[in-house]
Amino acid sequence: MQPVTIAPRDRLIVPLDLPSVAAAEAMIGRLGDSVTFYKIGYQLAYAGGLPLVRQLVGAGKKVFADLKLHDIGNTVARGVESVAALGATFLTVHAYPQTMKAAVVGRGGSDLKILAVTVLTSYDDGDLHAAGYRLGVSDLVEARAQQAQVLGVDGLVCSPEEAASLRKIVGHQMNLVTPGVRPAGAAAGDQKRIMTPARAIAAGADYLVVGRPVLEAADPRAAAEAIVAEIAQAAT
Ligand code: C5P
Repeated sequence: MQPVTIAPRDRLIVPLDLPSVAAAEAMIGRLGDSVTFYKIGYQLAYAGGLPLVRQLVGAGKKVFADLKLHDIGNTVARGVESVAALGATFLTVHAYPQTMKAAVVGRGGSDLKILAVTVLTSYDDGDLHAAGYRLGVSDLVEARAQQAQVLGVDGLVCSPEEAASLRKIVGHQMNLVTPGVRPAGAAAGDQKRIMTPARAIAAGADYLVVGRPVLEAADPRAAAEAIVAEIAQAAT
């Protein structure tokens, strides 16, 4: 299967990692048409931000609901149905076989795409070991990616470092979405496996999630435009 061409601007996903709906709306206003794809995660969702999914979709934007679901199968499937009804484009679940299977059932024939989180990009081998895992990051990412593909999951969240090897495993049938992206010179924060936007695209990422370098910039719109320009250049 050949790669699908996505417009460079639509490949940047800005997470609305902000404390309130008012703060999120202010940021959306500042970013204007520089950003077409937003991510809503724990912080905003639990601060009353889920109705923003419908609002943003109504305004022509796409939304990635980064809710990282993981529960018994029936609960996951019913939760996914509800998120599909909101009009979100992507929804994350943790890459456990039962959870992924239930999520695929829940999304059914809707337009929602399920993304499996392989291993959080803030984790290294030591963190996995401390959590009781036998495998290191690269082996666990690979095993979970293979399971996700077999179970009919639509895409993977992975670090940019893993994108190239995952592309070889899953081909172009799955969307690869990579957080852990930092323009040259930006602070890494708690991310341990980072790459620049251009390198992440060259490595095979379809979508880049870039948060703090945009949200904390003096001029968020200019920061987003610079990332879009870097994506456009890397994609040609
Ligand atoms: O600010 P920063 O660019 O580090 O934000 C990255 C975003 O991507 C955060 O919203 C974080 O929750 C999310 N994310 C991540 N690693 C994953 C999955 C999601 O950093 N494996």
